[in-house]
Amino acid sequence: MTSRAVRLTIGAVVVVAGLLLIGGVAWASQAGDGPEQPIAFMHTVHAEQNDIDCVFCHRTVETGAEASVPAVEQCMFCHNVINDENPKVTDPFYRAEIAKLEAYAENNEPIDWVRVHVMPDHVRFVHAAHIKAGFECATCHGDVGSMERVKQVRSLNMGDCVACHRENDAPTDCTICHR
Ligand code: HEC
Ligand code: HEC
Ligand code: HEC
Ligand code: HEC
Ligand code: HEC
Repeated sequence: MTSRAVRLTIGAVVVVAGLLLIGGVAWASQAGDGPEQPIAFMHTVHAEQNDIDCVFCHRTVETGAEASVPAVEQCMFCHNVINDENPKVTDPFYRAEIAKLEAYAENNEPIDWVRVHVMPDHVRFVHAAHIKAGFECATCHGDVGSMERVKQVRSLNMGDCVACHRENDAPTDCTICHR
């Protein structure tokens, strides 16, 4: 099967599973893919196959609280010059998704990515401190390069945060993590 056929098959299974679960359980972050995005941007294609560094796109992750997600201009930095003769770029599925990106750029419109990880407002999380402490992205986010759609793989709830702080002699007073 092509990977697209696999995706369609998985999609069909997810729809059926979803119907069976209606009225029920919040399962999406535990199983299957993350949320559908406005453009089917794939970390498999960018981070893994094309070996683009995480920090190239998530620019503030080593210096700030937020990792940041690239603005359309940052996408176009590459997509303005990516040759249409690239066989993968002319693949109809890729072509259609890249056309969406080009439309956002032409209309000067930001892309409304669906957030995958969301902390409540009263919680303070700072990426930079964790990267400086030596943790890899994968410690908290898993192997994102292998995900067609990013999903959350670690609970990152209070118990999880505090347990890791204890193990690493990091502060555990309430005001470190709460505003
Ligand atoms: C070419 C740019 C690009 C590269 C390279 C890239 N990302 Fe992303 N990343 C994005 C975009 C765009 C999104 C938002 C859409 C989505 O969730 O797929 C995103 C989303 C994410 C999210 C989910 C954010 C949320 O909403 O919670 C995580 C986690 C993430 N990336 C980690 C990584 C890691 C780890 C790497 C390196 C292995 C990486 N990214 C490489 C562009 C990139
Ligand atoms: C550093 C260069 C680079 C950046 C930055 C980049 N791309 Fe790409 N992108 C590529 C390349 C190269 C391909 C072609 C894939 C191949 O040939 O394997 C591609 C393919 C794609 C595709 C088709 C495959 C897929 O993932 O669905 C989409 C859609 C896409 N890019 C969207 C984006 C978006 C949206 C951004 C910004 C968030 C972005 N790209 C940023 C290099 C880049
Ligand atoms: C110690 C755990 C941890 C590590 C290590 C970590 N993250 Fe995160 N990441 C989080 C948490 C928690 C959130 C949710 C933050 C929020 O909602 O305020 C998050 C959110 C994100 C987001 C969503 C958007 C944003 O701006 O915050 C992206 C993108 C992201 N991480 C990328 C990365 C990348 C790339 C790396 C590696 C360079 C990385 N993260 C390392 C825990 C981690
Ligand atoms: C994998 C282990 C690990 C996980 C998981 C983790 N932390 Fe941390 N965190 C650390 C370590 C180690 C430090 C201390 C870094 C240093 O010494 O500056 C730290 C530092 C911090 C700081 C201090 C930043 C500053 O101002 O210097 C905050 C805030 C924080 N973590 C919040 C969180 C929250 C919220 C979560 C859960 C969503 C979390 N952490 C999950 C290991 C972790
Ligand atoms: C290392 C980070 C960290 C520390 C230290 C921490 N918390 Fe939290 N706390 C979180 C995170 C992340 C959440 C949100 C996720 C969750 O509800 O588990 C949270 C959620 C909460 C909530 C909301 C629970 C709910 O059901 O909505 C309360 C109340 C709370 N914390 C109180 C405290 C108190 C009191 C302390 C000090 C004894 C403390 N926290 C220390 C990370 C932390």
